[in-house]
Amino acid sequence: MGVLFISLLIILAVASTVNSCPPSDRSALMDFKASLTEPYLGLLNSWTGSDCCKNWYGISCDPTTGRVADISLRGESEDPIFEKAGRTGFMTGSISPSICALDRLTTLIVADWKGITGEIPKCITSLSNLRILDVIGNKISGRLPADIGRLSRLTVLNVADNVISGPIPTSIVNLQSLMHLDLSNNKLSGEIPADLGKLTMMSRALLSRNQLTGSIPTSIANIYRLADLDLSVNQISGPIPAQLGSMRVLSTLKLDSNQISGQIPGSLLGNGGLSIINLSRNSLEGYIPDVFGPKSYFTSLDLSYNNLKGSIPKSVSSAKYMGHMDVSHNHLCGPIPASSAFDHLEASSFTANDCLCGVPLLRTC
Ligand SMILES: *[C@@H]1O[C@H](CO)[C@@H](O)[C@H](O)[C@H]1NC(C)=O
Repeated sequence: MGVLFISLLIILAVASTVNSCPPSDRSALMDFKASLTEPYLGLLNSWTGSDCCKNWYGISCDPTTGRVADISLRGESEDPIFEKAGRTGFMTGSISPSICALDRLTTLIVADWKGITGEIPKCITSLSNLRILDVIGNKISGRLPADIGRLSRLTVLNVADNVISGPIPTSIVNLQSLMHLDLSNNKLSGEIPADLGKLTMMSRALLSRNQLTGSIPTSIANIYRLADLDLSVNQISGPIPAQLGSMRVLSTLKLDSNQISGQIPGSLLGNGGLSIINLSRNSLEGYIPDVFGPKSYFTSLDLSYNNLKGSIPKSVSSAKYMGHMDVSHNHLCGPIPASSAFDHLEASSFTANDCLCGVPLLRTC
């Protein structure tokens, strides 16, 4: 019995030393470390010894295979290490292509280090197990890999707040598992892929603050899980597809600061679930659709800085809630409907129109 137990222990011990952090994974991580500099906190000093699965900051391994599964390095997190140091993380250097040797990697998070430059290694598209790619908040440049669509298991693609240029690769529409896409605040140009609507798992699509042109693909309306669509501050033109108004779970739509033209689809303002809409600073024309009712619930509705004409529809006063509304800087005329739903709105929500009148404006009707 005792002998059996001891031999079992030995087998277990041998098994775990054999399995944990193969030398090839360790050396890939050492190359990755060598191309980064983290001068203030010494976080990567913990990357020492032969077992990279044990107490290496930000590294975790698959317990059954002993292979490196996650690299999770966040420069801004709840980790008390930052609070103690009284600063957030900072790193320079670049993401070494050596990580592409970590072929069981599921998570690559190198986020909010502010100073990391260079490109996303092209070979990253060979990491077929990758589920999370998050490099937000660095100074990463270059292009998104053209064959990014190969990452069929990717659920999160977050490259926001970098200086990535070039087009959104058309292969992106093949990321069939993608739930969260954040490309905000880069230098991406060209058009949004027409068949982006193939990404039916997606719940957030954030493409704001780039240099995107072309029109809003109508196929987006097919993404029935989409809750948050942000295309603001680009150079997008053409009309707003009316189909966006029939999306079931869409609750935030930001299209502000583009060159969008045509009329506001009635379906959009009549969709009871869409509670944050910003269409400010475009070239929208025609009337504000008269589609408000007791189901209308707006946390924020911003239609300012367009070419809207006519009056503010009386139905607005039947809205259940109007947290913030802005129709300033248009060509509206006539009385502002009285409503308890927007008693709290100030004159600035209505200024710079052709002939609006009534409270809260000074001009009487
Ligand atoms: C709507 O977008 C404009 C322009 O991008 C911005 O200035 C404004 O603050 C936004 N409105 C709201 C309510 O957030």
